[in-house]
Order: sequence, then C-alpha cells, then structure tokens
Amino acid sequence: MKGRRLVIGILFFSASAFLGFAAPGVAWAQQAPRNGSGGAKPAATAKPAAAAPAQTYAQRFAALCAACHGANGRSEMPGTPSLAGQPSFYAITQLFLFREGRRSNEAMTAVAKTMTDDDMRGFSEFIGTLAPVPAPPPAGPVDAARMARGKQLATEYKCVFCHGDDFSGGQQVPRVAQQREEYLASALHGFKGGKRPGYSMAMSEALRPVPEADLDVLAYYLARFTPTAK
Ligand code: HEC
Ligand code: HEC
Repeated sequence: MKGRRLVIGILFFSASAFLGFAAPGVAWAQQAPRNGSGGAKPAATAKPAAAAPAQTYAQRFAALCAACHGANGRSEMPGTPSLAGQPSFYAITQLFLFREGRRSNEAMTAVAKTMTDDDMRGFSEFIGTLAPVPAPPPAGPVDAARMARGKQLATEYKCVFCHGDDFSGGQQVPRVAQQREEYLASALHGFKGGKRPGYSMAMSEALRPVPEADLDVLAYYLARFTPTAK
C-alpha cells in the first residue's frame, strides 16, 4: 500500500500548497490596480451629476450573466455551468483566471476581460448568496450500476477529501453535486488533458491516477448525486 500512501501524501501536499498560495493570489487579484483600461468606459465618471443610481450586482447579474447561467444561477444551457451554490471564493478565483487568460473560453474570457477588481468581488459575492437549486435530474432512467461505480471511484480517488461527502465544496473548492453532466465531463477531461490549468495543481494531481475512461462515470455520478440517495 506504499503507492496509496504516496498518493495521499501528494493530495495533502497539494491541498496545503494551494491553500497557502491561493489567499495571497486572490488578495493580489483584488488589489491589483487596473490601469490601462484603454478608455473602455469614457463617460462613466465624466458626468457625476447625471449619474443614475448604481446598479447592484444582483441587477447586473440579471442583465449580463443570467442569459447563459440562468436567472437563479441554475443553468439550462449546455456547456454552461450552474453557479448557484458555488462558494464566492471559488467564483473569484475562476473570474481571475478567465480575466488573466489562464482559463480560456471564448464567452467567459470576453465577459471577464471587462471586469474591474470590484466587479470580480461584487459578482463573486452575489454568486455566493445563490442557494443551490436542486437541478432536475438528467433525462432517462438512472443506471444503478454506473452510479455505484461512480461512488466507488469518488471514494477511491479521494474526491470527497476536498469536495466533501456531499460534494458541496467550500472556499476555493467548487460544488460539483448536481452540476450539468456535460460540463463536469468537459472540466474533468480539461484538467486531465492539460487544457484547463487550475488555480493550483490540486485537480491535475487528483486526476493523474484516474483512467481517462472513468472520467465520464464520475461526471455521470456527480450530476445525479443527491445527499439522500447516494
Ligand atoms: C455567453 C454566455 C455567458 C455569459 C454571458 C456569462 N457566462 Fe460565465 N460561463 C460561461 C461558460 C460557457 C462557462 C464555462 C467555460 C468553460 O467551460 O471553461 C462559464 C463559466 C463561468 C464561471 C466559472 C464556473 C465554474 O464552475 O468553474 C463563473 C464564475 C462565471 N462563468 C461567471 C459569470 C458571470 C459573473 C457572468 C456575468 C458578468 C457570466 N459568467 C456571463 C458562459 C457565460
Ligand atoms: C486536493 C483537493 C482536490 C481533490 C482530491 C479533488 N479536487 Fe476537484 N477541485 C479541487 C479544486 C481546488 C478545484 C478548482 C480548480 C482550480 O484550481 O481552478 C477543483 C475543481 C473540480 C471540478 C471543476 C468544477 C467546475 O465547476 O468547474 C470538478 C468537476 C472536480 N474538481 C471534480 C473532482 C473529482 C471527480 C475528483 C476525484 C477524482 C476531485 N475533483 C478531486 C480540489 C480537489
């Protein structure tokens, strides 16, 4: 069982490494001056007397984000993750990665590029207030054997160690329970294949021993996971 202990050791190491690394990284992200905005919003501060009352981030989310991510943060759009139930700390790290071009997606990179540090904080705090919405289970009968296999894999590869027994996440670890299945699958393949560099090495290390073919089983299981019917 030497190999197993080594894997756990790596997970402990990476968990503490990213905890130590993430906090200053985000603090920096929040404080970094956003110069060079290139006159994107020329008139915003030019006429304070006529300024309309500032929109809240709830209103801005409804106007700018809900079309893709859903009104209550529950996405009904393929390839687009639900945000309801995500910890605000996780949300801000991802917005930061999109803005800096380290996580790439055409739609989200375009959205994040326009964000100031205050915007990243404001949207993330708002996302943190969205209660997880029970998603309608993916269509079709549930394959009990595939669920059992998914549960076995999630235990064997210590997914619960960071994401929690109920997969609700916390801090910079995302909620993955009842996330959209095709999004989960693309995220897992992205980490495993190096297309999605994480904020830390946590996920690439966690997935290193997992065979590529098992990633879809994990996505199937997590998308249908409920705390009562594990
Ligand atoms: C045109 C559609 C679109 C719009 C508009 C949009 N998003 Fe996204 N968003 C996406 C997609 C697609 C992804 C997943 C990208 C990927 O697969 O890497 C994403 C990912 C995210 C993530 C990471 C979620 C996770 O689980 O990792 C956050 C946070 C986020 N968006 C916040 C926002 C906010 C805040 C707004 C509004 C200011 C917004 N998005 C507007 C399509 C959109
Ligand atoms: C050492 C802690 C750790 C372990 C173990 C771990 N994760 Fe993660 N996971 C994370 C962190 C941190 C992130 C955020 C990724 C980043 O760095 O940007 C994440 C992200 C994810 C995402 C992306 C979610 C989204 O909304 O985009 C999925 C899916 C995921 N993990 C599933 C799993 C599965 C399945 C396992 C087990 C095979 C696992 N994780 C094991 C810490 C961990």
